[in-house]
Amino acid sequence: MATTEKTSKIEDVRKEVNRLNSAAHTADQLMEAITLLLHEKMLKYNWVGFYMLEPGASPPVLVLGHYQGAMTPHTRIHLHQGICGAAASSGKTVVVDDVKSDPRYLACSLETKSEIVVPIFVDGKVAGELDIDSHFLAAFGFEDRELVEDCAQLVGKRLESA
Ligand code: SME
Repeated sequence: MATTEKTSKIEDVRKEVNRLNSAAHTADQLMEAITLLLHEKMLKYNWVGFYMLEPGASPPVLVLGHYQGAMTPHTRIHLHQGICGAAASSGKTVVVDDVKSDPRYLACSLETKSEIVVPIFVDGKVAGELDIDSHFLAAFGFEDRELVEDCAQLVGKRLESA
């Protein structure tokens, strides 16, 4: 896809995310709608899912929530495990262009080649994250990162006002 084509695609998806945010009654509905939208419209987003920190769990653990794509064996992830654990414990977006070269990577599907994980903040603290896998190397550029970070931020705001 040419760069301008991708830019306009991402713009359309961004507008749709804002529409879904207005239509959703709960954060849970918004999370489900975001997984469906990103998985359907962003052709390189082959697995899209939320992991949320289990309230009160000690040690902290990320629990799989709404997702679209193949079933994953990783339904509970501790913070010292995987790209998911790295994003949640650092509070920073992690983009991995080639999962084979990252020793932290927990394999979900043999087809996955790149991954982005964006933390979700609620009242300034990490409450979960939005995780996306692609069957393509380096699928997540700057605009993808902005889009996924926007989605994570909207969910965080909805959780704050819940
Ligand atoms: N690859 C992730 C595990 C979750 S699956 O991708 C759905 C990780 O390394 O943490």
